[in-house]
Amino acid sequence: MPLKLLSIVATERKNGNSVLASKYIAKKLGVELEIVNLAKLDIRPCKACYKCLYGEDCLIEDDVEEIFGAIERADAILISSPVYWLDATGKLKAFLDRCFMSLKYHEKFREKKALVLTYHGFNEMIGWASATHLVLARILGFDVLANIELRAALPAEIFTDKETFKKLELAAELLKKGETRIFENQCPICMSIIFRVENGTLLCPVCGSKLDLELNLIEKGEKFSEEWIVEHFSKELVGLKEKFKEIKDELKEAAKIVE
Ligand SMILES: Cc1cc2nc3c(=O)[nH]c(=O)nc-3n(C[C@H](O)[C@H](O)[C@H](O)COP(=O)(O)O)c2cc1C
Repeated sequence: MPLKLLSIVATERKNGNSVLASKYIAKKLGVELEIVNLAKLDIRPCKACYKCLYGEDCLIEDDVEEIFGAIERADAILISSPVYWLDATGKLKAFLDRCFMSLKYHEKFREKKALVLTYHGFNEMIGWASATHLVLARILGFDVLANIELRAALPAEIFTDKETFKKLELAAELLKKGETRIFENQCPICMSIIFRVENGTLLCPVCGSKLDLELNLIEKGEKFSEEWIVEHFSKELVGLKEKFKEIKDELKEAAKIVE
């Protein structure tokens, strides 16, 4: 069982479901809780300079390092955030976009257990925010125990809707036991809830696994695995930057087509 829990939330609501759910889980487990509310932080857009991939500090001065510091201090993490227009909130995505910077923390983060908890107001408007939240958890290297979608529209409705409350109890239980749970509508490898149709089969866009229409595994994907993250960040992306340096003049010439 974790001793110190960090919840990454992104809501301006005072009694937001994502905040209350985090407090409930911490209370139930009797552990210390730190809440980092991205909605209250200064998170600027990534400049795509790739400096952090070469081990250099990010040139942007804002609150992003503070978030990584909070993750470092925690034993377990909740990514607990609502659906806004079918996807994650803008602030959560802004943080995700800055996560090239997370490579240097990878060794420290990868043993941390995490739950992805996503709140939606309407069952017919669930969307794909939980997949975006999952990508954040995976890119940070967390050991994700479960990806749970909870219906709750009004503040504190997580406690009054019976089905939702059951899911919240389950979330607390899984974290307490350190147990993994993959639900039947999820990718059996990475827990994503969205799929692309390709040649009559399904492709999980998060891990790259190939699945049949019943979500049985045809071919396991490795995207966002430990090895993939290191390879992608330090070889593919750095390789791309090196290529850019090589053919910069050629690309500059090509851009003149719109002058
Ligand atoms: C700007 C905005 C957009 C929203 N978009 C959706 C949506 O697309 N689908 C949905 O089911 N709920 C949507 N909701 C409802 C929230 O997901 C829901 O109220 C959730 O409980 C909010 O979490 P919070 O209380 O932690 O802030 C939206 C709410 C807001 C304020």
